[in-house]
Amino acid sequence: MAIKIGIIGSGGMARHHLERFSAMSTAEVVAIASRNEQTGAQLAAQHNTGFIPEWAHLVAREDIDGVVICTHNDSHGEIALAALRADKHVFVEYPLASDVGEGEAALRLAKERHRVLRVSHPEVVSNEHQALKEKISELGELLLTTFVRLTPGRGARPEVLFNLPISGTPAHFFIYHIYPIVDCFGGAASVESRAAYDGLTESGQYQRFVNTLTVEFKRGGIGQWTWAGGIAIDTAVQNERYVLSEGTLSYDGDGWDCSGDWGLIGLPVFDSPQPTLQQLWLSEIQNTADQPPCLKDAEVALEAIRISLAAAP
Ligand SMILES: NC(=O)c1ccc[n+]([C@@H]2O[C@H](COP(=O)([O-])OP(=O)(O)OC[C@H]3O[C@@H](n4cnc5c(N)ncnc54)[C@H](OP(=O)(O)O)[C@@H]3O)[C@@H](O)[C@H]2O)c1
Repeated sequence: MAIKIGIIGSGGMARHHLERFSAMSTAEVVAIASRNEQTGAQLAAQHNTGFIPEWAHLVAREDIDGVVICTHNDSHGEIALAALRADKHVFVEYPLASDVGEGEAALRLAKERHRVLRVSHPEVVSNEHQALKEKISELGELLLTTFVRLTPGRGARPEVLFNLPISGTPAHFFIYHIYPIVDCFGGAASVESRAAYDGLTESGQYQRFVNTLTVEFKRGGIGQWTWAGGIAIDTAVQNERYVLSEGTLSYDGDGWDCSGDWGLIGLPVFDSPQPTLQQLWLSEIQNTADQPPCLKDAEVALEAIRISLAAAP
C-alpha cells in the first residue's frame, strides 16, 4: 500500500519533492499545506491533491503517515516536533532546526516513537561522498579542513535568504557546506565565529556578508569555513582542502584530487546505483515494521547545527 504523505510549503523545494513523490507508486501525496494560499492552492490543483492553509491541520490528519517540511529555516524545528508528536515520519529540508534544543528533542522523539527522521542532506546517496569517506579513512590523522565560498549573488529570494531571523546566519543557511565535513570528521569540541553584514536593518535583512567559522574537531584537527556573499566578484568561487597526515584531498570546482607521496591523482568514484533521498525515506518508513529506524544521518545533521548555531549572533 502507498505511504500517504503531506507536504508543507509551496515554494521551490515543495515543488521539487512533490514532483519526485508523485512519480513514485509507493507514495501518495494526499495534502499540501502552506501559509501562501495562492501558490499552495495552485500547486495542489496541479497535482490533483488537497490544499490546507494551516500546517498544524495537516500534521494532525490521521490518514497521513509522513510529513515533508519545505518551509523556511525558522519553522523546521517547530514543525518537525509537532509532526513527530503526532507520530508522523518526517523528511525535513535542511537545516534540521534553528535551535539546538529543538533538534535534540526531534532526535529523542524519533527514537522513542520509532519514526524515521530524515534531513535532506544528499551525501548519504552520493557516490562521490562515499568515495571521499573511504579515502579519508586511508589517510591518517586529520590536520586541517578549509572551505571557501565567495559569491556575487543574493539568491532567488534575498528577502528570505539574507535575513537573520528567517534563515539564520550564513553559516546556518549554508549548513550544506558544514554537514559533509561533519559526516567525514565528526563534531566539534569548540567553535569560533566572526560575521560582518553590510546594510543590516533592524529587521535583520542585509545586503552583503562575510562569515567565518573555526572549529576544533573532537577527534583532533582544525576546520575552517569562509563565506562571503553579495560581494564584488565576477562569478562564484568555491574550494576545499582536507589535509590529513598521509595525504591531502582538494576540490577546486571540478571533482576531488588526492595528493601525497604518490603525486596527484583524481579521486576514483564508482558509479553505483543509488536511491533518491525520497526513495530512501520511503524504504526506511517501510522498514520500521521490522526494525527501529536508523537515525545516524539525523545525528550528523544535529552535530552540524551545533556548529552553525554556535555561530549565531
Ligand atoms: N535540498 C536542497 O537542495 C535545498 C535547496 C534550496 C533550499 N533548501 C531548503 O528548503 C527550504 C525551503 O526553500 P525554498 O527554496 O523552497 O523556499 P521558498 O521557495 O521561499 O518556499 C518556502 C515555502 O514555505 C512557505 N512557508 C515559509 N514559512 C512558513 C511557515 N512558517 N508556515 C507555513 N508555510 C511557510 C512559504 O510561504 P511564502 O510564499 O508565504 O513565503 C513558501 O511557500 C529552506 O529551508 C532551504 O534551506 C534546500
